[in-house]
Formats: sequence, C-alpha cells, structure tokens
Amino acid sequence: MQSWIEDIHARARTRLGQGRVASYIPALAQQDPERLGIAVSTNAGELYTAGDAETPFSIQSIAKVLLLTLALRTHGETLWQRVGLNPSGMPFNSLAQLEAEQGKPRNPFINAGAIVVTDRLVSAFATPPKHLQDVARRLSGNASILIDDRVLASEWQHRSRNAAAAYLMKAFGNLDNEVDEVLHTYFSCCALAMSCIDLAVALNFLAADGHARAMGERFVSPGLTRRINAIMTTCGMYDAAGDFAYRVGLPAKSGVGGGIVAVVPGRMTICAWSPALDGNGNSVAAQHALELFAEELAPLGV
Ligand code: DON
Repeated sequence: MQSWIEDIHARARTRLGQGRVASYIPALAQQDPERLGIAVSTNAGELYTAGDAETPFSIQSIAKVLLLTLALRTHGETLWQRVGLNPSGMPFNSLAQLEAEQGKPRNPFINAGAIVVTDRLVSAFATPPKHLQDVARRLSGNASILIDDRVLASEWQHRSRNAAAAYLMKAFGNLDNEVDEVLHTYFSCCALAMSCIDLAVALNFLAADGHARAMGERFVSPGLTRRINAIMTTCGMYDAAGDFAYRVGLPAKSGVGGGIVAVVPGRMTICAWSPALDGNGNSVAAQHALELFAEELAPLGV
C-alpha cells in the first residue's frame, strides 16, 4: 500500500503546473503550487503518506463537512428546514438562486448553505470557533491544530459576497444570529490549518460507521455517516460533482486551499492536497491523485 500511494503521488505530480492557486482570498494566493501531499487513513488504524502529507494548509470548504456533522448532531433533521439537499448547479459562491428561493440555500456545501449551518452552531455553542477547533483537534488526534489568523483576516476583509448571502438570508428570517458573528465563525472554521494526515484521520469516522478512532468513541451514528457521505457524493465537488462521481465514484469534499478528502466507506479515507485549482475551484493534481487511487482500489483488493 505504501509504494502504491508513492506511485500515485509520482504520477499525479505530472499535473503540477496546471490550474491556478485561489486568489480571491489574497492570503491563499501565496501558496506554493508545486506542493502535493497524499495521506490514507485506514479503518484498521494504518496511515500511508506521500509527498507533502504533513504540511498544514487552509482546509477552506472541507470545513463544511465538520460544520454539517456538528449541526446534524445538535439539531438533527430540523436542520433541513433551513437548508436544502440538492445540487445547486451553480458556482459555490453564487447568489442567483437565493432570493428566488426565499433565502433557503440549495445544500450545506455551497457557501450560503454552510453559513446557515454555521448559524445553527452559533446558537448551540458558547464559543463556536473555539469549539470547532477543539473538535478538529480531537478528531485528528493533533492538539496543535490552529486557526490561521492571516487567512481569517483575509477572508474577513474580502467577505462582501458571503456577507451579501448572509444578509439576504437574515432578511428572509433564515439566520437567527448576527451576520458578523456567523461569518466570523464560518471563516474561522475555513481558516483551520490542517495537513493531509490530520484530515484523513479526522474524517475517517465517515468510513468507519461513525467511529472516530482518535477519540476512541462513536462520533455519529452509522445512519448519519451514510447521509453525510450521500451529500458529499451529490454536492461535495460543487458544479463538478457529477464529473467527479463518474471519474472517481467516492464521496468527497474539496476546498479552495487545494485539499480534497474522499471516503471509501467501510475501509479508509484519503486526503490529497495541491494548491492549483481548476475553474470549478477543485485542485487539479489532487483530483488526478484520487482518480488514480479509485481506479486501482478494486483490482488491488485493498
Ligand atoms: O467562503 C469562502 O469563499 C471560503 N471560505 C470557502 C470556499 C471554498 O473552499 C469553496 N471551495 N471550493
């Protein structure tokens, strides 16, 4: 398995040089596009890594999986009164559907949806950013995970589009808390700096029927795991969810920091990271690594 992951890394490196590092959050524009890391965390507790697997990067929209999981734990099925469950067919930061649909976002993995989900968490916890950081630390077993203040400040400074979505939803009565507090919590979670290893281990509960190995306990029920994986399959790669499902066929979530986490239910999680993105906001080399991984998964019998 280790040499296989190294081989995937070597082959995915051929895609470096394609795509562009995200620049709409200026702090992300400084990332090195030549980086590529891969980490696999199996349900049996083994870890396989290649390349820049230990380098922390901005998890960005991968945070939406953590936010959704926590909101489903605290609010259960009532969450779906606030946010829908279907692909939007629009870019992740689009506002186009929001007014026509009375401030109810299409799904929890577009920005407007994640902002509504974050509002639920602001209602549930006394210090939401601290709580999210703590959950990320406990799920990954890495107590040194930090919120990158530079990324957080950059997102705050360039928040106009997310703020517009939040105010529109507030006007429709779909946000209970103040826009600034909700946005600050949302950006804090997106600005968590985690490595491929941290993310593969932290989200392994999605492959393990809800059991979080680093915590040594069941984090969510098997049924909830199945539902979150379903939403990752349909909405996790934004506008390219259909293409990705065809090429890779695994539940996955990407972020504009260049990371993608994919789940092999019952077996393992894999996180690949490389900062340069395609036009949909998904990492070019990380997607290719996942495609190679998925193609060879069954024949290798791993
Ligand atoms: O709200 C934003 O724009 C970012 N914090 C997260 C966007 C993101 O990662 C979308 N991903 N592909």
